[in-house]
Amino acid sequence: MRVDASKTTILIEVTIHMAVSPSMLPSHEEVPARFPVDDAVAHASDSVLQTDSNRFARIRGTDLLNRDAPMLRWQQERAGHGVWPYFRSFCTPLTTRAVAVGEDGRRTEGLNFGCQDYLSLSTHPRVHDAAAKALRDYGPIAAGALGLNGGNPLSTELSDGLADMLGFEHGLLFPTGWAAGYGTIQSLIGKYDHVVLDKLAHNSLRHGADAGTRNVTYFEHLDNSSLRTHLQAIRSIDTKNAILVVTEGIFSMDSDAADLRELIRTCREFDAVVMVDVAHDFGATGPDGLGQLGAQGVLDEVDLVVGAFSKSFATTGGFLVTRSATVREHVRLYGGPQTFSSALTPVQLGVALEALRIIRSAEGAQRRASVRQVAERIRLGLADRGLHCMGNVVCPVIPVLIGSTRTARLAWRLVGEHGLITNLAEPPAVASNLARFRLQAMADHTAEDADSVVDILDTAIRSAEDAFSRVQ
Ligand SMILES: Cc1ncc(COP(=O)(O)O)c(C=O)c1O
Repeated sequence: MRVDASKTTILIEVTIHMAVSPSMLPSHEEVPARFPVDDAVAHASDSVLQTDSNRFARIRGTDLLNRDAPMLRWQQERAGHGVWPYFRSFCTPLTTRAVAVGEDGRRTEGLNFGCQDYLSLSTHPRVHDAAAKALRDYGPIAAGALGLNGGNPLSTELSDGLADMLGFEHGLLFPTGWAAGYGTIQSLIGKYDHVVLDKLAHNSLRHGADAGTRNVTYFEHLDNSSLRTHLQAIRSIDTKNAILVVTEGIFSMDSDAADLRELIRTCREFDAVVMVDVAHDFGATGPDGLGQLGAQGVLDEVDLVVGAFSKSFATTGGFLVTRSATVREHVRLYGGPQTFSSALTPVQLGVALEALRIIRSAEGAQRRASVRQVAERIRLGLADRGLHCMGNVVCPVIPVLIGSTRTARLAWRLVGEHGLITNLAEPPAVASNLARFRLQAMADHTAEDADSVVDILDTAIRSAEDAFSRVQ
């Protein structure tokens, strides 16, 4: 539903999630200077506007089944004020105009900057045909885990194709990108080894490290001198065990990238192996879609690359590529998600393969250029309005810094009411006072879409700031 901003009491109604056709947004000139703000939200408690989920994460007590009641109340209170941005569903394909509905029935219909289909391949006719063909040829499900008959000819073609594109000898598929990062580290690392990760490394990488060893340390984000300090400290007491250094191609919460050449050089000095998770940049950015590894010319030097299909390959799944036959075999045999989780379905394989073909073609280059132009235009537009887009690289994810959590939560509600689907990144996913919008651009977005998103965001943020300045 659309919320009537003049009402101070919000009625929550649950709508049935059904397919609907999205209407066209008004053109960006029509966005007013300020959006009306519901007083009830501006005056809401700190719990609604400021408290983050960490507050409830470590609740203790014997009553395992009910002890999370305060967390549930907090979540419901936030939903009641229209500032609970999680667990929404799309009721349309992931096109640039779409409809998303929250669990509370609030409906946002309009511009879609809230999904990770960076190259707009999820609606590509060739991708749909490939899905249908894979379904016809092999059925809807894999026979089991890869080790237990779960492969088919598409699996081999896909893992070989990924390895070939990145210039590696061996590829291995995983059920998800999360499983690729987790499973690779968890299986390769023994309890005496060390894992040194960028402080902002993805959850999958951290959990993989924790599952492998207690020797896990974090260096400051993108800071190669901090990495050096950690490596020096480890090698001064342990010259017998392996060190794995883990970073990402592009960190999507911040849209930034490490100096990978220097990072690799530092690792070599201390006999450390380098693994890069390219979930967000591979396929969608860089020369020939090779992401930061291609852009920085370090593909030949990096040891292990893991990635995900969920951003640019129009399906779910993950992969590892390596030059070492023994690494591949070890991860195949001992990686938890390899041995104990079913393999990718034929439809996922067919889609990822067709996406890979497009990504490697002239059309892929065109799509990368389009999404880059959209991201650049949004960045410039927001900068013109005095808003800060974070990051040191241009990629489909555009983090727009708000700072204050309460301003971000209210602004998120306002953008939803005014036809913009996008994601909020708030603490604890990001540091306190660094709340931000996380716009996700797609190749099919137009220059006018970019201008509209700038207008809506700018108006929403200013309206939220004004509302809180009146409350104080
Ligand atoms: C760096 C990184 N690795 C892995 C993943 C997980 O990928 P998937 O959602 O495909 O499991 C993500 C998800 O956003 C990510 O950012």
